[in-house]
Amino acid sequence: MHGHGNDMTKHRIIYDTDPGIDDAIALVFQARHPAIELVGITSVFGNADIDTTTANARYLASRFAPHVPVARGAAAPLRRPPPEPIAHIHGKDALGEIERIGHVDKQEDRRAAHRFIVDTVRANPGEITLLAVGPLTNLALALKEDPGVAALVREVVVMGGAFGIHGVLGNATPAAEANMHGDPDAADIAFGAPWKVSIAGLDVTHETVMTRAFLASLRDCAGDAGRFVWDMSRFYEGFHADDGVPDGIYAHDYSAAAYVVARDLFATRRGPVRVLTDGIAAGLTIQKPDSMHTHAPDWDARPDCEACIGVDADAVLDLFANTLRN
Ligand code: BDR
Ligand code: CA
Repeated sequence: MHGHGNDMTKHRIIYDTDPGIDDAIALVFQARHPAIELVGITSVFGNADIDTTTANARYLASRFAPHVPVARGAAAPLRRPPPEPIAHIHGKDALGEIERIGHVDKQEDRRAAHRFIVDTVRANPGEITLLAVGPLTNLALALKEDPGVAALVREVVVMGGAFGIHGVLGNATPAAEANMHGDPDAADIAFGAPWKVSIAGLDVTHETVMTRAFLASLRDCAGDAGRFVWDMSRFYEGFHADDGVPDGIYAHDYSAAAYVVARDLFATRRGPVRVLTDGIAAGLTIQKPDSMHTHAPDWDARPDCEACIGVDADAVLDLFANTLRN
């Protein structure tokens, strides 16, 4: 007998996030998708400092996911100081500087994020999906605290990295995507652990653009959530325009959330992934595809990851619109 909460067709997700406008967009999707049960939100530094991203996680949970606990995560990468704040991408408050509606009644969980992850995975063996869309510090700390959790996680889905499929290797630097750049050591640990990892990087997120017309139709036809996505994305659109994207925003973090429920919309490549941890290319992700038979000991000893190399972007965008409209 399976109760509702144990239904394996449901994806029970801990959302590890640094909100962030696109993080908030992905949260709204998860809160509305019938095959997703959010079991926790864990914050991490990244798009802003940890106080800001945790406050945003509490705000988002209060408004869209009222029964979901929020646990505060890492304030800094494993072995570097916290990064300088960046306000030009997501705004000073990291949610596009919009007027906030409603009460923030969500308190923080008493546990640190990595402890929350360990406890929740241990209490639900084989059931929890970790959807990680910020620097991977909390995941690395969870593995350090309890290496046995890796075998008990259902799967890990990450937004991060870039494999150069369309010639792009990074956005934070020419060689590193922002989440990898945020904590390259943590990313290399997370991709080397014995759990099932899938990675949606810039190779697919740059293909999936929410245009202004798409966002406007959400505003007009997708109720409160649609208006929220429109309002927040005004600031993000300005950043994209400055960055050479003339119409709309990249669906970075949402792409990883879409992968959890609709992986048939993505093409993937299997093989171990390393992350460079030092030098000017720190944060660069490099996969050794399984089709390559050359001896490469720095990769060969590690588990395969699925790296997304293609996407049916129209279908991924339809999935978002249909989920919010329902
Ligand atoms: C990633 O970096 C962050 O700014 C976004 O929220 C996303 O997770 C894109 O490179
Ligand atoms: Ca993010």
